[in-house]
Amino acid sequence: MDIRISKTPEETEAIAGELARAAERGWVIGLVGDLGAGKTQFARGFARGLGVIERVQSPTFALLHTYLSGRLPLHHIDLYRLHTDEQTIAAGLTEYFEPDGVTLVEWMDRWQGRPPSRFQRIDLEALGETERRITLHELAGS
Ligand SMILES: Nc1ncnc2c1ncn2[C@@H]1O[C@H](COP(=O)(O)OP(=O)(O)OP(=O)(O)O)[C@@H](O)[C@H]1O
Ligand SMILES: [Mg+2]
Repeated sequence: MDIRISKTPEETEAIAGELARAAERGWVIGLVGDLGAGKTQFARGFARGLGVIERVQSPTFALLHTYLSGRLPLHHIDLYRLHTDEQTIAAGLTEYFEPDGVTLVEWMDRWQGRPPSRFQRIDLEALGETERRITLHELAGS
């Protein structure tokens, strides 16, 4: 487990970018934290680190955005509006739990089922106006 303190949105993006540069095909990264904690900000930095050139928008309404311009395909999911595992399955999102590239999931704690086979959880917590604690758990699965 690795705990990082970010004091600006740019620092959060930089931490995410570092992780993206190490990312391998098949990884699923679950982002957990309250509204405004910085999950989408983290996703932007991650996308940038993968080399994605498109603008990264929150998938809260679309549920899924896929970006193909980076080193690996990136699937960015938001489970905020899904309240049961059945809804997540019906929306076809569990397909991306075994990705052809990397999947980033905001509100991963909505998913109660078995974690994806190569899964890393990241917690984001607001400590102040712009201070965030980012806890990077170990990657599970091989
Ligand atoms: N250190 C920081 N790291 C990340 N975001 C920060 C930081 N300091 C301030 N912010 C601000 O906090 C907000 C984080 O918003 P963001 O959309 O990333 O949150 P979220 O966790 O995705 O929320 P939601 O649950 O609504 O999707 C942004 O406005 C960002 O500028
Ligand atoms: Mg968000």
